Amino acid sequence: MQTESSKIQPVRLGILLSGRGSNFLAIARSIQEGRLPGVQIAVVLSNVAEAGGIAAARELGLPTGVFVSKGRKRAEHDAAVTACLREHKVDLVILAGYMRLLSPEFIAAFPDRILNIHPSLLPAFPGLDAQTQAFEYGAKVAGCTVHFVDEHLDHGCIVLQRAIPVLESDDAHSLAERILVEEHLAYSEAIARVASGEYAIEGRRYVRLPAEKTR
Ligand code: GRF
Repeated sequence: MQTESSKIQPVRLGILLSGRGSNFLAIARSIQEGRLPGVQIAVVLSNVAEAGGIAAARELGLPTGVFVSKGRKRAEHDAAVTACLREHKVDLVILAGYMRLLSPEFIAAFPDRILNIHPSLLPAFPGLDAQTQAFEYGAKVAGCTVHFVDEHLDHGCIVLQRAIPVLESDDAHSLAERILVEEHLAYSEAIARVASGEYAIEGRRYVRLPAEKTR
């Protein structure tokens, strides 16, 4: 018989977004369709009041919050967001198109517990408009990266990447659209891996472990 204390606790996600929220919705769909067992969305937060993603989260009946960052000091804004994530007992912070640099204090509050998705094969093309950067550079392979967040931009330990060829027929827009399809698959897969706890971080390498080695 399972006692209360021996029950496996769900991994609670805190989603941060600033825009349309298609990555958030793909994660929500994975959970709804049973592809992320033991994972639940605790809260969805936006730093932009008009973000499509926050409206979608409200429609899904999820707890939401808006902390407008414009004109506010980074440390002050991040402290409010951290407090809210803690209030909702968030285990894993998911940056899903969160267009804001995090303060060192925020990163320290969730050590190796913040994931980001970036639409390039890092370390190539960090920063804004990564898909256009890759297209204009003439890269023949593009893709996306899910990584832990550290204090440097688009830099932390890589959990997984998905690659696609850049087609002769592509323009920057079609390339971005095809990368987005991969992003939606990659983020749920990466969350499943991290939520399982069956990994170690060696230097900056994410290493998958068989279940028994993590106990
Ligand atoms: C995605 O391309 C993601 O890789 C980047 O920002 C975009 C967010 O898109 N970090 P969405 O809001 O999830 O649709």
